[in-house]
Amino acid sequence: MKGIILAGGLGSRLYPLTHATNKHLLPVYDKPMIYYPIQTLVRAGIKEILIIVSGPHSGHFIPVIKNGKEFGMEHVEFAYQEKADGGIADALAIAHDFADNGPVTVILGDNTTDADISDSVKNFKEGATIFLKEVPDAHRFGVPRFDSNDSSKIVEIIEKPKDPPSNFAVTGLYMYDNTVFDKIKMCKPSARGQLEITDVNNVYIKENSLHWAELNGYWLDAGTFDALYLANKYWAEKKNPTIKNIKI
Ligand code: DAU
Repeated sequence: MKGIILAGGLGSRLYPLTHATNKHLLPVYDKPMIYYPIQTLVRAGIKEILIIVSGPHSGHFIPVIKNGKEFGMEHVEFAYQEKADGGIADALAIAHDFADNGPVTVILGDNTTDADISDSVKNFKEGATIFLKEVPDAHRFGVPRFDSNDSSKIVEIIEKPKDPPSNFAVTGLYMYDNTVFDKIKMCKPSARGQLEITDVNNVYIKENSLHWAELNGYWLDAGTFDALYLANKYWAEKKNPTIKNIKI
């Protein structure tokens, strides 16, 4: 299985920090943010990785990632998303050639998790698999609506609903078969002018080929100031538990 990290977008929710560099290179405790999704993929045995970048600081990635060897990658490629905030599905479409007709695991560059998805990667066969996490603020995310008669079945995913139909977030970790690239072509830009990954996932739901699992472990999308602060806190305390005792 090949892996794709989506690290495009403008990171405008984090201005003025993202005037200085790309969101995915901002610090999360002792590492640039993008180290975390890289480690999630490599830990799952995915060592051929494409990183999609965009925006004014795209060149900042190379000196950080280099040839990927220090992360255990066997191969790393970069690709440039022309419309910097064209949407997650727009960024993923660029990976068509890299995927080479095979399945792909996709992770958003601002998602940090300590979950181990090796088994899901090993057992992946067809369709799509998404990972859900119960959260207190589901309205910030893609949210699944479950069948009222069968709570194991997702009937729809709604992007950032005002009134979330469940307390689960669709995390930014997805596994797709190669039909994902045709499905992206079936989608139209949303009201915010982006090709939404939620629309792609809803195509899989319509085809009855969307599978899901609960993400086992800590997960946080670090794309807002508060979430970035909390991600820093979590990883700092995980690495150095005594930090909690420091009085400031
Ligand atoms: O983190 C999980 C959530 O991520 C999901 O629950 C949502 O369904 C999904 O739409 C997404 O929501 P966000 O609003 O958090 O997405 P955001 O625009 O912050 O983009 C997340 C990452 O995707 C970003 O860190 C880099 C990549 N991206 C984003 C855009 C808009 C790109 O590579 N290119 C893009 O054009």
